[in-house]
Amino acid sequence: MKNKQVVVVADSAYNKATAFFDSVEDFHLIVAPEEENVLAEIVSRENAFGVILGTYRYTGLLYEKMKSGGVLARFGVGCDGLDFNKAKEKNQIITNTPGVLDQTVAEFTVFLAAEVLRKIGHVDRLMKQEKWNTHLGNDLNGKTWLILGLGNIGKKLAGILNFGFGARVLALSRRKYENEDLLKNPGVAEVYTDFHQAVSRADIISLHLPANSDTWHFLDRSRLKQINRHAILINTARGSLIDEEALYDTLYEGKISGAGLDVFESEPYTPKSETKDLRKLHNVVLSPHLASSTVECCNRMAASVMSGLRFAAKGEFNRMNRADLL
Ligand code: GLV
Repeated sequence: MKNKQVVVVADSAYNKATAFFDSVEDFHLIVAPEEENVLAEIVSRENAFGVILGTYRYTGLLYEKMKSGGVLARFGVGCDGLDFNKAKEKNQIITNTPGVLDQTVAEFTVFLAAEVLRKIGHVDRLMKQEKWNTHLGNDLNGKTWLILGLGNIGKKLAGILNFGFGARVLALSRRKYENEDLLKNPGVAEVYTDFHQAVSRADIISLHLPANSDTWHFLDRSRLKQINRHAILINTARGSLIDEEALYDTLYEGKISGAGLDVFESEPYTPKSETKDLRKLHNVVLSPHLASSTVECCNRMAASVMSGLRFAAKGEFNRMNRADLL
């Protein structure tokens, strides 16, 4: 082990691609719990060159304990759990794994919408209770789907929806000059700059925005009110994009027809108040932040995260996916 650089892998990432990580030979990989204090101590004790991280939020000790020049490597794309300023102060590099999960997350977004539209999980549970209850769902074909955040995942989704299901895809752009460019994306029919105009035309709305201070509670109470009563909302991006309490009220009062949520303001999901527990609602389908969790996608993310660390070890910083330079 002597000459190999140490990379600490948070267990949440390791558990998703165990065989892949076990086959790594050029680094000495050490698996550690993802909680910040424990992880940081191990990173420091091992004088780790890099640390592979899941979506856990790291606020302080990790940056203090990691050496200058060390690599904080996100197993995934969203880096909202990391403090870019603290990493910069310590001259630490932040990488992520863009490009390898777009199809998987876009597919899952459709599956979650299908679950809300057709209630397969619900009828499966009923059948297992020996109940034969049929019900009427809704087609995806012919529906208008608004994509909020036409980045890599949103673009993949637009193609799947339009070419695979015959849905009409709208997008919202925050800058007028972007509209023409966004319209070049296969599958996108119209781009709006006005939230109200866009949302008033939508039967299904999905979120694919990055989580940051600009997008925090992007769907707040006033924007949720503008969504059509018959519409459904899907979030496979980040919980902080929606005011969860306002969403609870909206669903409880039947002001939108349903929601599919894979991400939450606090994970594992904890309701903001005991009386507003999303798990108690019949018109919401919940999953535990697993949109990118397929065997294939996790292996691609593991390969991508390791390749970033290899470039860093060789000093080829321009070849890494530097989330801190975006
Ligand atoms: C998953 O949520 C990711 O950020 O990749």
